[in-house]
Amino acid sequence: MAATTPQTAPETNAGEPSDLQEQARRHLWMHFTPMGAYRESEVPILERGEGCYVFDVHGNRYLDGLSALFCVNAGHGRTELGEAAARQAAELGFYTNWTYAHPRSIELATRIAALAPGDLNRVFFTSGGSEAVESAWKLCRAFHKLNGEGQRTKIVARELAYHGTTLGALAATGITALRQPFEPLTPGAVHAPNTNSYRWPADRDPLWAADQIEHRIEFEGPETVAAVILEPVQNAGGCLPPQEGYFQRVREICDRHGVLLISDEVVCSWGRLGTWFGCQRYEYQPDLITTAKGLTSAYAPMGAVIASDRVAEPFMAEGKMFVHGLTFGGHPMAAAVAQANIDILEREGLNEHVQEKEPELRGMLEGLRELPIVGDVRGAGFFCAVELVKDQETKGTFSDEESERLLRGFLSGELYRQGLICRADDRGDPVIQLAPPLIADTEQFEEIDAVLRRVLIDAWDQIVSG
Ligand SMILES: Cc1ncc(COP(=O)(O)O)c(C=O)c1O
Repeated sequence: MAATTPQTAPETNAGEPSDLQEQARRHLWMHFTPMGAYRESEVPILERGEGCYVFDVHGNRYLDGLSALFCVNAGHGRTELGEAAARQAAELGFYTNWTYAHPRSIELATRIAALAPGDLNRVFFTSGGSEAVESAWKLCRAFHKLNGEGQRTKIVARELAYHGTTLGALAATGITALRQPFEPLTPGAVHAPNTNSYRWPADRDPLWAADQIEHRIEFEGPETVAAVILEPVQNAGGCLPPQEGYFQRVREICDRHGVLLISDEVVCSWGRLGTWFGCQRYEYQPDLITTAKGLTSAYAPMGAVIASDRVAEPFMAEGKMFVHGLTFGGHPMAAAVAQANIDILEREGLNEHVQEKEPELRGMLEGLRELPIVGDVRGAGFFCAVELVKDQETKGTFSDEESERLLRGFLSGELYRQGLICRADDRGDPVIQLAPPLIADTEQFEEIDAVLRRVLIDAWDQIVSG
């Protein structure tokens, strides 16, 4: 692929690229983005998508190796998702799930309940992932209160895990730099180590990280803990998979202490790991699942909390309710899009495709270990990371300043210039994350390999030459 292959100019709704640059700089407040950097450089403006590719306003083509932030599982350009929304707009553009129901949210809740494991049968819709996490924590607190255990308010999350940005979800998020500007945070979120075993001592018990969760619960006082929240594969830190038996041990710990287990699957559901839900891949039964992103392949904003019958039951009793709501929860157009999206995932067998192709994607990334800058390769399904090191032998990592220079100063920009969108992240040690749309195949894997290899070799040359 030529990174900047000009395409035949498509028909779009966009204004002139130069006007858009000007307007973006003046008026758009981008998320997690140092806007000041765009005084000198161009705002990357993506205008069109097709399959695994997106195109910027200049017509340059990029392989979307990140599925637009782990979202577009079914790929870009799925007009049938827009058509589903249009049909729904003609029938009922909006009604809230606050007091009223409508057919699409009922049907979608029923379908999600059928796909979710065990007795996860009750679906509370939100507009996205942070709201799902926020709602799940509130639900756990209210559940314990209804059961006469109102002192159970705390949530145990893991260091470096990202659970969102609203104040409750942010308190669960274990990334210091994201928390500090907004302290004091919602009280009651505490943290335990994650499953990143790359630098563990060789003789460490493989279930050490699971046991650390129990240690934290006991330290806090089990009677004060409402829930444990974990991703099946932790995103921040670079796609950290669980050790064999990790979730089974955590389930036992939660049961022993009367604590609810939330599986935060905002990224790890809807085929990302080759299963509907990440907990199915690792064969554990959570009490709640939080999901968003791939539920609609992000063609409409939607999230959900899926609760077990046991968790929902006290709220269903006469005169009781979950005193919580969001105007847009279960939005009928988003629900119609979600149904059409699940139709695609089913019809095209995308879970099976991910299962079948995972070894090929992984094998390609493992091949990068021959480059001196590659320390570790990890992940599951179409959700993988390459950790970068200064020294493969010692696993020595970069200083903050080197990491800044390497990731933001070189890698992010260079990968993009060479036509690959992926994530260069240093919320833990520096990693490059890849999560292509679930339709990606050998052709895309080869493109990823070619670009990554070239750019990582250049990055190493820069490091060696100081
Ligand atoms: C595991 C996890 N939880 C929650 C969130 C927050 O979701 P949102 O950005 O939709 O609010 C994210 C976002 O990436 C996530 O990865």
